[in-house]
Amino acid sequence: MSGFFLRKARIEDVKTIHMLLMECAKGELLLPRSFNQLYSHLRDFYVLSSDDNKTIKGCCALSICWDQLAEIRSLVVHPDLQKQGWGRKLVEACLSEAVTLGVYKVFTLTYQRDFFAKMGFEEVTKEKLPQKVWADCIHCPKFPECDEIAMVMEM
Ligand SMILES: CC(C)(COP(=O)(O)OP(=O)(O)OC[C@H]1O[C@@H](n2cnc3c(N)ncnc32)[C@H](O)[C@@H]1OP(=O)(O)O)[C@@H](O)C(=O)NCCC(=O)NCCS
Repeated sequence: MSGFFLRKARIEDVKTIHMLLMECAKGELLLPRSFNQLYSHLRDFYVLSSDDNKTIKGCCALSICWDQLAEIRSLVVHPDLQKQGWGRKLVEACLSEAVTLGVYKVFTLTYQRDFFAKMGFEEVTKEKLPQKVWADCIHCPKFPECDEIAMVMEM
């Protein structure tokens, strides 16, 4: 079996990213994203690709929200490759990109509190995040009963 590596997403990855997110969304681990959202935000994504580029086994997106604020979202590692450090690497790739862009505060809305705590994120009350963050929430099937945890990393 071939190895895996991280790279920025390409247009041919969209269908697999969509499938990975849909699988996780079924278990209510994260929110699904439409093809429209994925195509228009493709540049936000890193993917975990097989060496031969034939398979995508994970993804993570960094979305710029506001002055000095970005969000990590759509993080998935396929169960076949979990607990091997790929989730950490995907998050680190996004954090590194945030620094390159001059954004030093990154948040996430998640059910994976312990995982993100290990990455150095701290839990905050949702009210600490600017209102702009909630623009997307209206599209969420759970709105307005949000049970995700807000976590922030300041670099
Ligand atoms: C959460 C997820 C991305 C973690 O990916 P992963 O590749 O298994 O994580 P890693 O192997 O990089 O783990 C990094 C560290 O976090 C720990 N960890 C991994 N998953 C964890 C979890 N669910 N809870 C607590 N700690 C966890 C690992 O033990 C490891 O600790 P260490 O550095 O002390 O060894 C993966 O379980 C997943 O895709 N889950 C389903 C989708 C999901 O919930 N996404 C988050 C949406 S915001």
